[in-house]
Amino acid sequence: MQQPTDLSFKLKQRVAKKLAVLDAKSLIRELPSEFVKSETQHSLASNDYLGLSQCKPLQKILSNLDIPYGFGSSRMLAGDDKGLSQVEIALSHVKQSEFSFLFPTGYQANIGLCQALSNIKESSLKDTAWIVDQKMHMSVRDGMMASGVSKKSIYRVDTCDFEQVEKIFEELSSSHKILMTESIFSMSGKRAPIDSLLKLCERNGDLLVVDEAHSIGCFGKRGEGLVSHDYHPLLITVNPCGKAVSLQGAFVSGPSWFRDVILNYSRSFIYSTGISPFMAKAIETTFEWIKENQSHLKSLSDVTRYFHDRCNLHYFGKDHIVYIPFQNTDLASQAKDKLRACGFETPLIRFPTVSINEPGLRVSLRGDMNQEFLDELIRVFNDCKI
Ligand SMILES: Cc1ncc(COP(=O)(O)O)c(C=O)c1O
Repeated sequence: MQQPTDLSFKLKQRVAKKLAVLDAKSLIRELPSEFVKSETQHSLASNDYLGLSQCKPLQKILSNLDIPYGFGSSRMLAGDDKGLSQVEIALSHVKQSEFSFLFPTGYQANIGLCQALSNIKESSLKDTAWIVDQKMHMSVRDGMMASGVSKKSIYRVDTCDFEQVEKIFEELSSSHKILMTESIFSMSGKRAPIDSLLKLCERNGDLLVVDEAHSIGCFGKRGEGLVSHDYHPLLITVNPCGKAVSLQGAFVSGPSWFRDVILNYSRSFIYSTGISPFMAKAIETTFEWIKENQSHLKSLSDVTRYFHDRCNLHYFGKDHIVYIPFQNTDLASQAKDKLRACGFETPLIRFPTVSINEPGLRVSLRGDMNQEFLDELIRVFNDCKI
């Protein structure tokens, strides 16, 4: 019954109705309770692929950086900060690109990138075809919406299937095309065939955009990821630093002609406080650390090989992301409980993060997993009939 003193009663009722619909579909979200770390309980959720958040010598260097934490305004208002620009030059060296721009998060970077891309048009957005992987991160999907890209201009494809992409390029030969993919897909662990996709774009001067969230820091001598530009004029990358780089923020790298497009049309850059100078310097320092301490990259590649050579479960992914698919969310949830009982906590992935018929469990392998840990993980996966 309505409490006269509860002014929010009607609102709460509406919200309860909405949430009940999600609950009925097993789609309700809760912030997971803090995972209790112990000798016998292990989380497989962290994307700290190189284990850098636990690397004491690096953490000590970062905590001694004498740099301001806050920026205090948009970079467009306060005038630019030399420190930030210098970090961006260093990041361009990492990616072999002509420019890099730092954003406070990868989500914001993708929103701003779509806003910029949607402005490379003749007179209307309609002359551009957006060929976007069907598993692309939500920030790109939200970015296209925020940029007014019409659904009719968006073609969802599996970019890991080159023939499918080539076919659609032929069908749309007259339009200006933007092809968007991830180098390693967050929710399948698959790699996109970047070199072939880039060659396809070169045929007609179309753009390739690659989100390197799950490969930046993990590959290449400089930790550059799977895509190093070599100053390519048609290639743009988004490089979120919250995963292997183990910090926060992201940088977009690309050819110089695109720099002014971001500066003039990326509303998430223009109308947002600049990234913390401290965080920016920490990102640069971490890339230097990765370059000078190649053992982190080697450990991750050793762990990955060890796991794939021994695990017999049906899953996707050949790198450090392993995705175990299920027919429905309830089955995935049961498997999650079984693994929890064996001491492993695995995130349950479901709609709308993935399509409704592709729920699954996602496992991140990390370079700091030792052999004993891996043997136990592989034993549980092989024995536990999930
Ligand atoms: C592929 C991809 N792009 C972008 C992002 C967003 O990055 P951030 O966490 O820095 O906002 C993520 C994060 O989950 C991601 O997986």
